Amino acid sequence: MATILVVYGTTEGHTAGIAERIGAVMRDLGHEVHVHDSRDLLKTTLEHAYDGVIVGGSVHAGVHQRSVREFVGQHRDLLDRVPSAFFSVSLTAAEPDEEAKRDVQAVVDKFAQETGWQPRHIEPIAGALVYSQYNIFVRHIMKLIAKRLGRPTDASQDYDYTDWDGVERFARGFAGQLGGSPEGGTEWAPPPGGGQSDERDASEADE
Ligand SMILES: Cc1cc2nc3c(=O)[nH]c(=O)nc-3n(C[C@H](O)[C@H](O)[C@H](O)COP(=O)(O)O)c2cc1C
Repeated sequence: MATILVVYGTTEGHTAGIAERIGAVMRDLGHEVHVHDSRDLLKTTLEHAYDGVIVGGSVHAGVHQRSVREFVGQHRDLLDRVPSAFFSVSLTAAEPDEEAKRDVQAVVDKFAQETGWQPRHIEPIAGALVYSQYNIFVRHIMKLIAKRLGRPTDASQDYDYTDWDGVERFARGFAGQLGGSPEGGTEWAPPPGGGQSDERDASEADE
């Protein structure tokens, strides 16, 4: 049994749900898993000796949460010492085309450049459009972005684009490599770098 840390950054709460699902899957496999919001771990000493760490965050206006970047900066030694992975939640990751893949990669590359951490495995995860959580200003911007992406602009509902089976495969794959036998068919190698920047015209909603 391994002791695994899952750290996430979230703005509207969707990534928290993904992190909890990852934790639940690995617990079902018999591991001890601690799931924490990155804001709660800043400036604290980690209380356990972790065998693996998964870090995740969502993208707002082209960047991941500052608290995630700070967590990575504070715990680079741990992330380099034990198996680790990064998941990036965004609406762009819901798009199937190659340009979107390059945009997702560019945002992750920016994260790696800013933190100095090159995760061994990167998992892009499609996020959600949660109109019910947005204030009037953000709702307006998100409708414009949704329209551009061909996504629904009916703000009376929320829309979840996350592939939850894929999230579970990612969790099983990570846990599997800790036991020395990768499960779930996930490729545990760094993806190729490169691509264009994904600076969007959405408001900065960091933290
Ligand atoms: C103000 C705002 C800005 C966003 N900017 C981006 C963006 O630049 N690129 C992108 O792919 N998704 C963007 N998104 C979509 C979020 O990444 C997506 O909604 C995600 O599920 C949010 O996860 P969270 O609830 O954990 O914060 C944005 C969402 C909001 C509300």
